[in-house]
Amino acid sequence: MLRPISKYHLMTTSLLIFWSVHGFVTGQKNTTLIFAKDDNIRNCSCATDIRDCDYSLANLVCSCKTVLQQAISRATPGPSYSSDLTLWFSDTTSLSLLLNFTSVHNLKLSLCGTTPLPSVYLAVLGLRRLRIHSSAATAAPDQSLVIHNLSDRITKDESDLEPRESKNLFYISYLDTALFNGHSLLKSYSVVNVSRISDHFPNLPYSNTITDAPSPDQTYIVTLIY
Ligand SMILES: *[C@@H]1O[C@H](CO)[C@@H](O)[C@H](O)[C@H]1NC(C)=O
Ligand SMILES: *[C@@H]1O[C@H](CO)[C@@H](O)[C@H](O)[C@H]1NC(C)=O
Ligand SMILES: *[C@@H]1O[C@H](CO)[C@@H](O)[C@H](O)[C@H]1NC(C)=O
Ligand SMILES: *[C@@H]1O[C@H](CO)[C@@H](O)[C@H](O)[C@H]1NC(C)=O
Ligand SMILES: *[C@@H]1O[C@H](CO)[C@@H](O)[C@H](O)[C@H]1NC(C)=O
Repeated sequence: MLRPISKYHLMTTSLLIFWSVHGFVTGQKNTTLIFAKDDNIRNCSCATDIRDCDYSLANLVCSCKTVLQQAISRATPGPSYSSDLTLWFSDTTSLSLLLNFTSVHNLKLSLCGTTPLPSVYLAVLGLRRLRIHSSAATAAPDQSLVIHNLSDRITKDESDLEPRESKNLFYISYLDTALFNGHSLLKSYSVVNVSRISDHFPNLPYSNTITDAPSPDQTYIVTLIY
């Protein structure tokens, strides 16, 4: 009776060691994984990718702590993540709480419920890459989108400095939560050289939240993701 269990444990342990060593050798940064489940929010640091919506595996393999909903800042702009960020959610309320006006370069969003989401626009600052997973029955397989590639050039140059032209650019993406319902493929549309978002997109919600570019010689690159 005990044998298969101990074999399983041995395998899990080996995998954990492999992941740790792998992460150490490649110097890979942990991903921040935040999930909202049954009014409970867990904020985890994971050394490896966890299968979408596998809450127990995440609790087992990652280093997680519970976050009180009231403790999450609703200020604009929201928190800024230097790590990759993965969010698991099942309704727009928790996604809005965790994502709206957050700054992050690499983002993965996984819809873990099957209830269709209403269309709500959420703003994300500085987004470079987006990956989408949806448990909705009609959804396409996982999809991804590259909004801009500046990070690749930085890595190749082995320099932490942003390319000079990016200094004056401020990236803001608006994500339509209806995209998780999977009725069409993930698409994006960018408008460059925007100095006032409300002039270009008068109907976009919260275009007044950030009305002017951060400084006179800076402009927005506005991306709609739908
Ligand atoms: C999650 O944890 C990270 C690292 O400790 C922190 O920077 C971030 O603000 C936390 N996010 C939330 C929503 O609590
Ligand atoms: C990275 O994640 C592992 C668990 O997967 C955790 O034990 C470790 O403390 C994390 N490292 C950092 C720097 O957060
Ligand atoms: C997103 O943040 C903006 C600015 O703080 C706020 O006006 C808006 O209601 C938020 N949207 C959602 C869906 O929470
Ligand atoms: C990103 O880089 C790849 C090649 O490295 C290129 O094929 C792709 O078009 C670039 N995408 C954007 C949005 O610049
Ligand atoms: C950006 O806009 C300004 C004024 O709106 C214009 O003078 C400039 O040529 C534009 N630059 C580009 C690259 O389109």
